[in-house]
Amino acid sequence: MIVESNVALQPFNSFGIVARAQHLARIASEADLAALRADAQWRDAPKFVLGGGSNIVLTGDVKPLVLKVEIQGLRLVEDGARAWIVEAGAGENWHDTVQWTVENGFPGLENLAMIPGTVGGAPVQNIGAYGIELQDRFESLDAIDLVTGRAFTLDAAQCAFGYRDSVFKHVATGDNDFGLAGRALITRVRFRLPKPWKAVVGYLDLERRMEETGNFTPDAKDIFDWICAIRRAKLPDWRVLGNAGSFFKNPTVTPEQCADIIARDPKIVHYPMADGSIKLAAGWLIDACGWKGKSVGNAGVYEKQALVLVNRGGREDPVTGGEVMTLAKAIQTSVYERFGIRLEPEPVVV
Ligand code: EPU
Repeated sequence: MIVESNVALQPFNSFGIVARAQHLARIASEADLAALRADAQWRDAPKFVLGGGSNIVLTGDVKPLVLKVEIQGLRLVEDGARAWIVEAGAGENWHDTVQWTVENGFPGLENLAMIPGTVGGAPVQNIGAYGIELQDRFESLDAIDLVTGRAFTLDAAQCAFGYRDSVFKHVATGDNDFGLAGRALITRVRFRLPKPWKAVVGYLDLERRMEETGNFTPDAKDIFDWICAIRRAKLPDWRVLGNAGSFFKNPTVTPEQCADIIARDPKIVHYPMADGSIKLAAGWLIDACGWKGKSVGNAGVYEKQALVLVNRGGREDPVTGGEVMTLAKAIQTSVYERFGIRLEPEPVVV
């Protein structure tokens, strides 16, 4: 295993931001990590784990040693009475993994098709779309503690999944030892795909597809194809127009706060949650503040979905992390001034 120096990170982040890693190591196996630990120069060096780079904003060069996870492998671990258990290497492309499961007769991940990134990134932010979150299909994962070098396995409870959240997004501090951010490298993820398979088609966009096609009993491949088409129509392809998916989380408010906002803005898009809180569509809030299609420097708000910030400069004159964050702050300020709601960014700012 070779540690490379002064590596361009533009090809490794979906915004297409220009930044460099002082040092970068490609991790294709557990043995590569062990080799790194055996080298006194790298053993205790600060490290940054990079997956697909689809949920990060790079605001400068990365000083910690970048570990680019490239662990491959897809296999059926168990064909049980109640579920298929499938395992994927953390470096596998997420969408290709979903496609592989559907095509090989292990359905259950189809609603999560077309999400950019890698398998290892999926549990970090508990990816979700069209009625399914990763935690609904999660069995366990293997990881390596970057400080001790020890391998460990976590089940769903130990991952502490929340809405676009997990133990991997929290930093352990002195009096709070909850948090594995910067501390763990996920090597493999196992999915539990329940039998018998049931279609999850409660989402409005999917109901529309059923009406349009007259197919009210879609199989997993039909849903996979519909999700691909829906996402292609709504969300920009990062290979064409750099972006990091939804830039903010959808905020939750109390029913009282929601009633107050509805009194002023009757059209606000809101959904009741199981715990009694109300989720608001952040895209609608940003749209209502007039941001759709606007730009700050080369950072823009996507024309078809105000929740997505995009790189308007392409590969040649790309947006900077600073421009993205300036636009994000301006959006946060105007949403706060109009609705009294603080939007929280979804990507990790590096
Ligand atoms: N809306 C507007 N204007 C906009 C954008 C949205 O009025 O500019 C309205 C829409 O009309 C719709 C509502 O807001 O009524 C919600 O929009 P949409 O269905 O596009 O979903 P979203 O809440 O914006 C979330 C996830 C997406 C996921 C979709 C589908 C978050 C932060 N985002 O988006 O996830 O694909 O639902 O399940 O939860 C991501 O996390 O990167 C991501 C793309």
